Amino acid sequence: MTVIETDSLSKRYPGVTALDRLTVDIGPGVTGLVGANGAGKSTLIKILLGLAPASDGSARVLGRDSARDGSAIRERVGYMPEHDCLPPDVSATEFVVHMARMSGLPRTAARERTADTLRHVGLYEERYRPMGGYSTGMKQRVKLAQALVHDPELVLLDEPTNGLDPAGRDEMLGLIRRVHTDFGISVLVTSHLLGELERTCDHIVVIDGGKLLRSQATTGFTATIGSLAVEVTDTDAHPDGTAALRDALTAAGLTVAEEPGRLLLVELPPATDPNPSKPPTDPRVEPSGDTTPADGIRDAHDLVRDAVADLGLGLVRMEQRRHRIAEVFQQRPATPAAPDERKGATADVR
Ligand SMILES: Nc1ncnc2c1ncn2[C@@H]1O[C@H](COP(=O)(O)OP(=O)(O)OP(=O)(O)O)[C@@H](O)[C@H]1O
Ligand SMILES: [Mg+2]
Repeated sequence: MTVIETDSLSKRYPGVTALDRLTVDIGPGVTGLVGANGAGKSTLIKILLGLAPASDGSARVLGRDSARDGSAIRERVGYMPEHDCLPPDVSATEFVVHMARMSGLPRTAARERTADTLRHVGLYEERYRPMGGYSTGMKQRVKLAQALVHDPELVLLDEPTNGLDPAGRDEMLGLIRRVHTDFGISVLVTSHLLGELERTCDHIVVIDGGKLLRSQATTGFTATIGSLAVEVTDTDAHPDGTAALRDALTAAGLTVAEEPGRLLLVELPPATDPNPSKPPTDPRVEPSGDTTPADGIRDAHDLVRDAVADLGLGLVRMEQRRHRIAEVFQQRPATPAAPDERKGATADVR
């Protein structure tokens, strides 16, 4: 099922091409739209909502044409704009009730939904205070609440982590994830920080200069979810404890690399497909049954612990390291864009 699809979508302003023949399909779940400043993220969102016309090409949202059915799309889609848009003199409750009423909810339903969504975003206590006195984090939460209040099927969130400190970013990303897991609402979330979307999104679309650089499931970016760094002591029986453990783990079927400093890196199994309803890409491959990556990680931990104990070595440390999407972007060639379209990739990959 496709939630958003664009076909050779272009948007030209005088002297600027904001979107350049962008063709992309986005399914249900949480999708990250990543691009540097000026990449065309906000322009794409406005065209999808029918708030700005395209110059060429077409876009469909929930099966409807953005150019023709903008208002029908906006009934079923929530929008969190990039910039501050909150009137300072009214409270979060007044504002979100107003937005709910604008979306067609009756008065009582609007009040109930407002209370529910403000509670969801963690603003329940402060909901009667004028928003002029809110912190940036609180304002971003109100903007998220008004996007959710009419119970949409999809929300388009334009830079919801903008202006937030690291803890605030984490909280906002957690909220966004729960919008999908708790309410089943699909999400398109933009950011210029590739790294911050890796935990939150099922799928990532990267654009640069209005062109598509990549569109791929998050799991596709990383072959493994990371590795386990293990350091052990030597003993009389095993004067080179690191080598003894490496041999034992390899014999147990794990992939082990050695780093300088007598550190072993044990590869952890691939991450789950976030959309398990999809058939496996290779029809000859049976679904993996009841073995989950969580099991695999636990197995790897257990195998290391048991091998260390069997060899009688001392365990100095065992810590999990994650691969970051940003690293993988730097390592692997982008598809399906042509090579000359890639070199301008400027997304901040912190
Ligand atoms: N109304 C407009 N008039 C002229 N140019 C515009 C207009 N809106 C956007 N642009 C230009 O289109 C390009 C894409 O802008 P857009 O706002 O979509 O980027 P963005 O990816 O959202 O960037 P940011 O991360 O800074 O929000 C930029 O070069 C921008 O200057
Ligand atoms: Mg923008």
